Amino acid sequence: MRFAFITIAVACVLASCGPQPKTAAAPEAKTAAAAPFNTHIPLEEVMAHVMDPAAYAFWAGTGTSYTADADTDLSPKTEAEWKRVEDGAAMVVLGANSLMLPGYAREPMADWDRYAAKVAEVAERAKAAVEHKDTTAMRTIGDELDAACEACHTQFSPSPAPASAPASPTR
Ligand code: HEC
Repeated sequence: MRFAFITIAVACVLASCGPQPKTAAAPEAKTAAAAPFNTHIPLEEVMAHVMDPAAYAFWAGTGTSYTADADTDLSPKTEAEWKRVEDGAAMVVLGANSLMLPGYAREPMADWDRYAAKVAEVAERAKAAVEHKDTTAMRTIGDELDAACEACHTQFSPSPAPASAPASPTR
């Protein structure tokens, strides 16, 4: 009996019995390949299909949209419009978080993460300003957001500049 017990115990150790995942000891467990995140959409497309439309959903309600006449008040008029603008700010926060995932983050990572975190921080304030219907703050923060995006582009995508970068009348 004792022999049988020891045999089973040893077999368990060798086969990693219990809740320990087999990957626990694998050194590559934290790499992008092993992470559960889906980063199949290339970064360029994340920019074009997530970051840009989200930011524009916010900018569209701030009076700093590149399509707008400087004197045109673009502030949302209806609750549905207010929601769309707030949606945009919230999606920028989430999109910026995604940029820091393994698979998207680029070296030097400390710089990359700092730019992405800055965008998330500014967009969080943008969302709060929309919640408070503070159109003055929305306009200021809209410019801050543009600068935060451009800061990363300057280092990591210096040329060509994104074609759809907003040309705020205040810059
Ligand atoms: C952490 C860095 C970083 C941040 C923050 C960032 N971007 Fe980008 N962006 C890039 C890089 C890198 C590229 C070039 C992509 C490539 O060539 O792989 C790019 C490209 C783009 C493009 C061009 C995409 C295309 O189709 O060529 C647009 C538009 C864009 N970004 C918009 C934005 C907006 C809007 C924000 C802010 C709300 C933002 N980005 C924030 C790194 C960043």
